[in-house]
Amino acid sequence: MSGNITFTIIKPDAVSKNYTEAIFEKIEKAGFEVLKRKDVCLTKELAENFYEIHKGQPFFAGLVEFMTSGPIVVAALKKGNAVEDFRATIGKTNPLEAAEGTIRKVYGEMVSRNAIHGSDSDENAQREIRFFFTPEEVEF
Ligand code: PPS
Repeated sequence: MSGNITFTIIKPDAVSKNYTEAIFEKIEKAGFEVLKRKDVCLTKELAENFYEIHKGQPFFAGLVEFMTSGPIVVAALKKGNAVEDFRATIGKTNPLEAAEGTIRKVYGEMVSRNAIHGSDSDENAQREIRFFFTPEEVEF
């Protein structure tokens, strides 16, 4: 049985194009409750730590550069079967392959500018929430 919490990042491309509120509307329409959100600017060190699992991938340096290129919005979301349902809501990593109506299809441009992140497991959702929020901020 999977958990009811997931984590998302509205990435710099979507924030700079003022898509943030439209994306949160879509998230809420899909049945997710936004438990907590905040605006963040990642340093290189923070971005490298957040994506440490992808260290060594050919896209790692570009991903870190992109994620530090402007403000992001992070949020904890609640819904039954949260992780899986949210990944369906955002669509495939590459917006060109994402299903019609998904957030990446509508707001993403390409795999390196794909508008949004969603946790890929309950365990990572917890880790990612703890990475960005203090325990006091996420007393839900
Ligand atoms: S993997 O190798 O399957 O684990 O990678 P994947 O889950 O598809 O992607 C991991 C994160 O890296 C981003 N990504 C990229 N960024 C820049 N350029 C390229 N080519 C690229 N490919 C993947 C992808 O958006 C994932 O970021 P998050 O924040 O998790 O969505």
